Amino acid sequence: MRISVIGTGYLGAVHAAGMAELGFDVVGVDADPGKVDMLSSARMPFYEPDFEPLLAEHVGDRLRFTTDISEAATADVHFLCVGTPQQHGSLAADLSHVDAAVEALIPHLAPGSVLVGKSTVPVGTAQDLTDRVRTRSPHGTDVAVAWNPEFLREGLAVKDTLHPDRLVFGVDADAGGHAEEVLRTVYARTIAEDATPVVVTDLPTAELVKVAANSFLATKISFINAMAEICEAAGADVTKLADAIGHDERIGRKFLNAGVGFGGGCLPKDIRAFSARAAELGASQSVAFLIEMDAINLRRREHVVDLVRRHLGHLPGRKVAVLGAAFKPDSDDVRDSPALSIAGALHLAGVQVSIYDPQAMPNAAQIFPTLHYAESVTEAVTGAEAVLHLTEWREFRELDPEVMATQATRTLLIDGRNCLDAEAYRAAGWTYLGLGRP
Ligand code: UGA
Repeated sequence: MRISVIGTGYLGAVHAAGMAELGFDVVGVDADPGKVDMLSSARMPFYEPDFEPLLAEHVGDRLRFTTDISEAATADVHFLCVGTPQQHGSLAADLSHVDAAVEALIPHLAPGSVLVGKSTVPVGTAQDLTDRVRTRSPHGTDVAVAWNPEFLREGLAVKDTLHPDRLVFGVDADAGGHAEEVLRTVYARTIAEDATPVVVTDLPTAELVKVAANSFLATKISFINAMAEICEAAGADVTKLADAIGHDERIGRKFLNAGVGFGGGCLPKDIRAFSARAAELGASQSVAFLIEMDAINLRRREHVVDLVRRHLGHLPGRKVAVLGAAFKPDSDDVRDSPALSIAGALHLAGVQVSIYDPQAMPNAAQIFPTLHYAESVTEAVTGAEAVLHLTEWREFRELDPEVMATQATRTLLIDGRNCLDAEAYRAAGWTYLGLGRP
């Protein structure tokens, strides 16, 4: 079976390599020649642990990349993996990449092939694409459209692609069982090896599963951050609160880490796009709470800026070290990153920000070229009047508080991820401030 993957960003590139690993002949198609060149020489256009060895193993053998969509014509299955960012001037998703990819692909769809959407889209998109393929493709009625949402996490993308928690196959019941059969063949090894649960749904349910999952995760994080706000007001400790409620299996401890909140290219834009789509469906009230989740999340960033102001006083001219630029560790992604947004806000308030991140500095410098990008933690911290820990890279968790205390001008530490050893920092003379904890 031959597979094409349209769009080779975080999702598509890893999916293409994952499909090659499962034994298929795969062509990845992307409009960006720079990205295609890098992937074709088995180099990653973004940082993702475990991805490069997978590329190296399969590029030149079962896996290739091209800008020419006509090379997808021989594929039996086309995975649509293009991005759906937030629209300018609206909360809704921008579907222009989906539209462009499908328009380009339609003339090349062979009879019997299956177009499988993996991109996160507003509910109803799959049905629109089905109608478009049926009316516009020369073999339209003989091409199936299915939706197979992706749940991979950046930093764990390879593991999540090859060993997902579950597979969701959204299929059009009127089209016979062809699409489901093809998807079961594609994922046969994954299903057999890991006993991966498969949930077969209609198209709109599959689209909704993805946004519902991300909305739930965003809500869980914002819930614990709302509790952090209450803990701050009451003098309580949100980390202990999270441990205690997390022992209840119905609640669970995962995604209850309070701090500077969620960012990235998915959770923030997905909850906004969901609100926008619900409004179009006349159901805005049902997800009105997501607007509040977004507000709680963004407030945590402002709170950190306020904390710095409260402790340093007048901000212009102050020197602050920011540890972390990526939206999470093990990623170089700075889209809607809490760390970078806080660094930027301090910089705009006149602070001399020195920022360091093990992987994300080139991407961060494109967005905020005027920050000072340090070459090491030592360079960032030297002379700083406050140190902000905002992305929990292992390198930062393993820092020696005593050594850092000799480098900083003033020993004020804000742990925006609540995961440093507070006692060790205090013992080394630091004023340690967590979020939502005394
Ligand atoms: C998220 C989902 O977790 C994936 O399942 C989904 O496939 C993906 O979006 C997507 O839609 O493509 P990802 O954006 O890689 O994955 O990041 P997460 O691991 O979900 O973390 C999101 C943000 O929440 C990060 O900024 C992280 O630091 C923050 N977070 C996470 C917290 O602040 N507290 C927590 O307890 C957990």
